Amino acid sequence: MIRINENYLKLQASYLFKDIGDRVAAFQKAHPDREIIKLGIGDVTRALPEACVKAFHSAVDEMADDSTFRGYGPDQGYPFLTEKIVEFDFKSRGADISCEEIFISDGAKCDTGNIQEIFAQDIKIAIPDPVYPVYLDTNVMAGRTGRFGNGRYESVHYLDGTRENGFVPGLPETPVDLIYLCFPNNPTGAVADRGVLEAWVSYARENRSLILYDAAYEAFVRDTHIPRSIYEIEGAREVAIEFRSFSKTAGFTGTRCAYTVVPKDCVGYDAGGGKHFLHTMWQRRISTKFNGVSYPVQKSAAAVFSAEGRSQVASLVDYYMKNAALIRKEMTDLGYECVGGTNSPYIWIDGKADSWDFFDMLLNTAGVVCTPGAGFGTCGKGFIRISAFNSHENVQEAMIRIKKALQK
Ligand code: MLT
Repeated sequence: MIRINENYLKLQASYLFKDIGDRVAAFQKAHPDREIIKLGIGDVTRALPEACVKAFHSAVDEMADDSTFRGYGPDQGYPFLTEKIVEFDFKSRGADISCEEIFISDGAKCDTGNIQEIFAQDIKIAIPDPVYPVYLDTNVMAGRTGRFGNGRYESVHYLDGTRENGFVPGLPETPVDLIYLCFPNNPTGAVADRGVLEAWVSYARENRSLILYDAAYEAFVRDTHIPRSIYEIEGAREVAIEFRSFSKTAGFTGTRCAYTVVPKDCVGYDAGGGKHFLHTMWQRRISTKFNGVSYPVQKSAAAVFSAEGRSQVASLVDYYMKNAALIRKEMTDLGYECVGGTNSPYIWIDGKADSWDFFDMLLNTAGVVCTPGAGFGTCGKGFIRISAFNSHENVQEAMIRIKKALQK
């Protein structure tokens, strides 16, 4: 008899964005003439930067010729990409990271989901609420939580993000081992300044815990005093793993390329207190379960760092941030309190109503898809998230429709 992993039975029925996708598909089926504008899942809509497309084409041509063809690539990614990452994403900001500490992958979702495999089952995990659901669900699947009740899983230390703390949760009052942080935050768009990150790093050092730092949205940070990487903070190399992605930065959601930084100074402990390097463990996991990102995709990602690529990516980010500013302004003018949208592509809005009712109302009345805050955790109840990833025209049209719907 084949037995199942019963931890899966503890999960909520379906993944948030699948749930929303199904509701939107059902609505579209019932109303085939309605034109829906999607500002729900953070999926980019603009073409890849020209420099990336050029590099992609030319790498495909190399694959078409025996003399330049490539088979399996290096486990951690090609040096032509990791060297650029180190130079532009870290050295330029005074962060000490080396090429061997970068692991190229097909997505921050996969990496933030898979990384928990290298940790013990009985560690104490601290997870923000509201939160990107992947951190929580993958720990549920792994059996690191108890049952679900009243909107929360047993045995998880929730870090509450509230209006009062500006959606930047404070340090836990009791010791925790593994801490998930995401800044600029998905879903709230809140950012952490240097002081906040210094406090977390020093907490982790004191408690021998580890921070999993999701920086997938760092390219949207506008304020120069806000750190883009946790490694800008002294001492972070020993207590933090960082996740980055080309998805939102350079329009790679469909192309797939990201990377994880595991510094060689990060250690974990066995039951007897013996130290083990997390870099060695993650390398072992990667070489066993992953065969890398395709050569053309890595070439295309490396083009992000060319002079042409950097300027095109900057325009792409500016484009979406213009949408974010419009959404934030319109919703504020309508009397709704907003967080985010200034250093992030997400605007977190106090809907002054049940999140799912607000979602349904916007879909039915305005034909606009948002994401209900309640889907990100109990602290998200009453909020909605609007994403800036769409064309200017669609965002302008969506705001006209939303205004009409809310002023009714
Ligand atoms: C989101 O909308 O929260 C993101 O697009 C999800 C993701 O990046 O997986």
